[in-house]
Amino acid sequence: MLATRSATRSSAPDFIERWAQHIMGEEIPWFPSGIFPGEMAAFLGLCEFYQVETIIESGRRHGYSTQMLGEFTRWTPCEAISIDLEEDAAIAADCRRRLGKYDGLELLVGDAFDILPNVARRATGRIALLIDGPKKHEANRLSATAAALFDVALVAHHNAGPDTSWGREFAEWFPQARYYEEMGFEGASWFREFKAWEREVVGDAPLGDRSVDRSDMAIAPLSDDERGKRRLWSLDRRPSPRHPLFLALKWWARLA
Ligand SMILES: C[S@@+](CC[C@H](N)C(=O)[O-])C[C@H]1O[C@@H](n2cnc3c(N)ncnc32)[C@H](O)[C@@H]1O
Repeated sequence: MLATRSATRSSAPDFIERWAQHIMGEEIPWFPSGIFPGEMAAFLGLCEFYQVETIIESGRRHGYSTQMLGEFTRWTPCEAISIDLEEDAAIAADCRRRLGKYDGLELLVGDAFDILPNVARRATGRIALLIDGPKKHEANRLSATAAALFDVALVAHHNAGPDTSWGREFAEWFPQARYYEEMGFEGASWFREFKAWEREVVGDAPLGDRSVDRSDMAIAPLSDDERGKRRLWSLDRRPSPRHPLFLALKWWARLA
């Protein structure tokens, strides 16, 4: 059984290793649009390390990452809520069929820019955000706004590699951002075994710019400074209808 918070004096890499082992032991179908298993192991390990009680996902499509969140809710005192546009009805129906077995997982349909504040306000403990749609700068705006308004302890953005302008912006807005290769366990024997297994799972799926050999999921634990409401004024220097300040005003008006 995985350790839960009551048992712990472990480090973040210990939690990540346990999630990597758990993932290897489950037969969870991976889809080419999905977040890689290693990226999910790192995210879940950090969710447990930071004692997150609510995970909010935006972007599930086939639901590989979402099923991992379902697994997480079975092993830790945490709930998970996944939001998706469900643009393809057949994919959405298949995903719901596979994931219906997780009591701690809620699947919502709609635009995260509208739904996320309603979900986050229900949370009674620390929140982690897993954003895999919307993408790019819009994703940064969504998370920055949520971090200023709610108790967000951890943020992860998929497809936010260091070679992208939005990945660099993520690191600027959330300075503790890391890719799991920077977390100090790359040389460990369990990690080599896990990567070999992960390469088998992913196989020769078409991945575009992505590679299992280099994560493009930026993960950031947040300090109080990174959750300050003042940041909403200065963070985003580009005009946008989804500028964090506009978004926050919209959410405040709705939640008031
Ligand atoms: C790459 S897929 C997600 C894959 C999934 N995370 C996994 O690991 O299997 C991206 C999804 O994000 C959804 N999406 C894009 N923009 C969104 C938004 N504003 N709100 C909710 N979902 C959104 C799309 O409908 C799509 O299903």
